[in-house]
Amino acid sequence: MSATLPLGEQLVANGCITARQLDLALQRQRATSADPTTSAHLVGRTLVEMGYLTQPALHECLYRQFAAERDHYLDNPAVAPVIRFERVVKILDGRRVLDAVDLAIPANRVTAIIGMSGGGKSVLLKHMVGLMKPDQGTVRVGEERLDAMSGRALRQVRGRFSLLFQGGALFDSLNVYDNVAFPLREKSQLTEEQIRGRVLRCLAEVNLIGMERKFPDELSGGMMKRAALARALVTEPEILLLDEPTAGLDPIIENAIHYLICDTFMRTRYTMVVISHAVPEIFQWCHHVIALHRGKVLYSGPSREVDASPDPVLRQFIRGELDGPIQVI
Ligand SMILES: Nc1ncnc2c1ncn2[C@@H]1O[C@H](COP(=O)(O)OP(=O)(O)OP(=O)(O)O)[C@@H](O)[C@H]1O
Ligand SMILES: [Mg+2]
Repeated sequence: MSATLPLGEQLVANGCITARQLDLALQRQRATSADPTTSAHLVGRTLVEMGYLTQPALHECLYRQFAAERDHYLDNPAVAPVIRFERVVKILDGRRVLDAVDLAIPANRVTAIIGMSGGGKSVLLKHMVGLMKPDQGTVRVGEERLDAMSGRALRQVRGRFSLLFQGGALFDSLNVYDNVAFPLREKSQLTEEQIRGRVLRCLAEVNLIGMERKFPDELSGGMMKRAALARALVTEPEILLLDEPTAGLDPIIENAIHYLICDTFMRTRYTMVVISHAVPEIFQWCHHVIALHRGKVLYSGPSREVDASPDPVLRQFIRGELDGPIQVI
């Protein structure tokens, strides 16, 4: 199976649906969306709504498509890095939160960062966008030295990123629609009509249509997370950093968000970095895994191989066992 065939065509090639059914679903989607971009996520949902496909068949197809991606990465792991840390040290309140971290984030792949709570994952992510500066070492985005930048130059590099903060960080005074539209109004030259199309598509992708006029304090925790995810996706950034996109969500929504991230990747090929506690599930949805432990990189390699790592700390973490080198209580 080709990993690059769009999901709809792949469903046709596999005999799950007919070409005519795909056409009808695409037509229906175009008629109901103000945005010309269709995502497999939305096409898939439309096919299910029209009764042409079952939900499990849709997920199986997306899953198989991404499994082919992971196999390909296992055989071809030498991908140019887009973000590089060299010997990065960060001391906070007298603690070495990042302790000589070397890492490389492969361009146009999905990288998951895993590790124990308090291990420095969010701090690491903040260094990637220059929100925190290292005490020692270098942080590069492409050829640019982020740690040595400030002002306009830093803002320009940040323009390549979109970041979903761990807490969601929606603006309390703006409703869901205006929260998602905010980065486009700030950074893009799009007209309000074009913005509307994009915002509504992203809200549809996270299943929040009908919630546009609600304010953050009227949303559940999961809805806030999804609105924040829509806001991170709406700018179509080159590099997308997601800090715990599924934490605190129920398992069904967690699954749906994993599918959405994977589908967004297949459609856009953005570089994505996802911090996640959804271990081992997240391994199915990323090419590369970086495990951080006590401020050091414990593992960095293809997600296909992480299970085989002999490192006892990593093995204990992945299995969630109380017995082992990590003493919790
Ligand atoms: N601004 C800050 N000032 C002082 N200490 C900080 C600051 N930000 C983070 N820390 C400390 O750095 C350590 C790592 O924090 P970080 O938020 O990166 O953990 P994490 O791996 O993201 O954990 P979790 O999985 O719980 O989100 C913690 O001990 C935290 O208290
Ligand atoms: Mg964190």
